[in-house]
Amino acid sequence: MNPRNSVFIATSLDGYIADRQGGIDWLHSIPNPEQLDMGYSKFMDQTDALVMGRNTFETVCGFDMDWPYQKPVFVLSNSLEKIPEKFLGKAQLIKGKTNEILQEIHNLGYQKLYIDGGTTIQGFLKEDLIDEMIITIIPILLGGGIPLFSEFPKKLQFECVDSKIYLDAVVQNHFVRKR
Ligand SMILES: NC(=O)c1ccc[n+]([C@@H]2O[C@H](COP(=O)([O-])OP(=O)(O)OC[C@H]3O[C@@H](n4cnc5c(N)ncnc54)[C@H](OP(=O)(O)O)[C@@H]3O)[C@@H](O)[C@H]2O)c1
Repeated sequence: MNPRNSVFIATSLDGYIADRQGGIDWLHSIPNPEQLDMGYSKFMDQTDALVMGRNTFETVCGFDMDWPYQKPVFVLSNSLEKIPEKFLGKAQLIKGKTNEILQEIHNLGYQKLYIDGGTTIQGFLKEDLIDEMIITIIPILLGGGIPLFSEFPKKLQFECVDSKIYLDAVVQNHFVRKR
């Protein structure tokens, strides 16, 4: 099975994944009475494991709900020394160069990876290690916050293989890296 690194994320119209305070409540600014998941469970079914940055991990830890993942979660961090006790067995720490991290995860048998967190995604993009991105655009301008993208050294071309409108308001584009 070929390895694949995928992004499934929501952004504001101006490309932020969190507001200036790190908040993500605006993700729910469009009424979604039937809790449409916009392809999330299908995407998760095709995912072997998640790789997320420490900030995203801490956001998830702060949710007032049960642990939301059924797949292994690898948390990237140079500062965390251990996973908080409450989340032991749910997530594990990993650090090193991106290629070494990937090798370690692949050796454990996980090939299809969900890469999450702005800085984390940017790190993978810097090394051209993202194969596909499913980006759901919430029609709101935040004016500032944590961006999905940052500068990186070379142009990376993607092909848009699908585009959907959900809830008459939200556009979801599926981009695949053209290699
Ligand atoms: N809109 C959405 O769908 C969505 C999705 C996910 C997250 N978010 C939001 O985005 C925010 C988090 O994004 P973020 O850009 O702040 O960062 P992030 O990628 O979640 O976390 C960044 C941290 O991850 C660690 N890290 C990243 N790459 C590493 C590497 N190669 N080696 C070691 N450690 C590495 C570092 O932790 P240390 O500082 O500990 O070394 C870094 O400070 C949160 O507010 C979250 O709620 C939104």
